[in-house]
This record gives sequence, structure tokens and C-alpha cells, in this order.
Amino acid sequence: MPSIRVFASAGVLALAIGAVYLFPTRKVSPTAMSDPYVALQYNMANTHDLYKSAYKTILPHLDNPPLDDLDNFLGYTRAWASSIVGHHDSEEAVLFPFLSKKVDFSKEIEQHVTVEKGLSEILKYIDRARAEPSTFEAAKLKNLVETLGGPLFEHLDQEVEDLAPEKLKVFTAEELTQAGKDLMVYVRAHSDKYVTLPFMRCHTPPELKETWPPFPWIVKRLVVPWILAPKNSGYWKYAPYDMS
Ligand SMILES: [Fe+2]
Repeated sequence: MPSIRVFASAGVLALAIGAVYLFPTRKVSPTAMSDPYVALQYNMANTHDLYKSAYKTILPHLDNPPLDDLDNFLGYTRAWASSIVGHHDSEEAVLFPFLSKKVDFSKEIEQHVTVEKGLSEILKYIDRARAEPSTFEAAKLKNLVETLGGPLFEHLDQEVEDLAPEKLKVFTAEELTQAGKDLMVYVRAHSDKYVTLPFMRCHTPPELKETWPPFPWIVKRLVVPWILAPKNSGYWKYAPYDMS
């Protein structure tokens, strides 16, 4: 009865993806996550570390690119760049307008412009190379990635520094909690679940995997590795850590 199997599979998929939206974010790390003044910086630092980790993974491959698996490698590199774009979009739409009411975030807003220009060039290069693999030159992509590296790392560190708990005391705990929720709502509505969540999971180091990202167990251990990651499984073999 193939039709029953199709409906059953579709049902499992819908149920599992629905869990991403329906399960509330849990407080999993009492020290870092239960204090909204600490949680914002903690989550931001861990998120930024994902991008740094992928950057450090991508660069050595560009010295000896996997030409027999180029589309997957470029897909992985694209997942890194597009994840940062999505992260920045969420900050510009939700977080920075909120913070800018009481804290000077003009430096970060300015840095986004430079970083986004670099990311846009990388994405354009990757898309062309995937469409016409014969045009791919690893040295050119390496140059684009390395050129972005300085401004990107500077920005990622600056932002975490400016989210220090003592700098956020101008907000109430309720305001910060609400801003964090608003940010998650935006991210859930705008990200590609087949890219963003697997990317996060396979760049989260083993010592953090039990508690971060602060998703329910079913999402981390079932939905991401078994439902979302397989769609682009060729990408994730380049990532530094396991998907589960
Ligand atoms: Fe950020």
C-alpha cells in the first residue's frame, strides 16, 4: 500500500518539523540561560563560534579543494555564508532596533555593511561555480573568504563584547526576555530549516551539545539528524562535528 506509506511518512515529517515550532525553548543551562542579562551574550557567543568554526574548516579545503565533490563542498560553504546573512538579517530586523533604543550599536550596524558585502561576493561566486563548475578557481574563493575573515571576526567579537551583561542593565529583565523571544520568532519564520538547524548542530562542539542550542531533545536528537539533515547530507560531511 504505497499510498499509506506516503501518508505515514508525510505525517511523521510534518509532526517532526512541527516540533521545531510547537515546543517551547527550554532553559537548559541554569547558570547561562536563566538570567536574561547573561543569556543574550551567551547565546550570541555560541552562535558566533559556529561561524568561526566553519570559517576555519573551509579555508584549508580551499588549498586542496575536493573537485570530485565540488557541488557538496560549495553547498557547505554556501550554508556557512547564508547562515551568517540570515543571522544578520534577524539582528537588523529585531535585535538592533531594540538595543538601539538605549545602547549605541552603531558600530555593529556599520560593520554589518562591510561583512554583508563580502558575504554577497562569496555567495555570488559560489552560485556561479555551482552552475558552471569549470569556472571554479579555489584561489579566487579563498581570496574572497580570507578578505572577509578580518572584518567578520572583528565584528563577531565586538558584538559579543557589547552584549556584556553589565551593558544591558539599562533594560529590564522582561524587556530582554521578550527581545530574545522576538528574535527566535523571526528566525523560525525566515530561516531555511534544512540548512540553518543542521548547520548549527554540526558546528556545536561536543561539550555543548547536551545544553546548546536550547532546543528540545526531540529536535536535537531526532528532527535535525534524521529529518532535516539528510536533504543536504553531502554538505555536512565537511563539518567538524557530528550531527546528533
Ligand atoms: Fe550576531
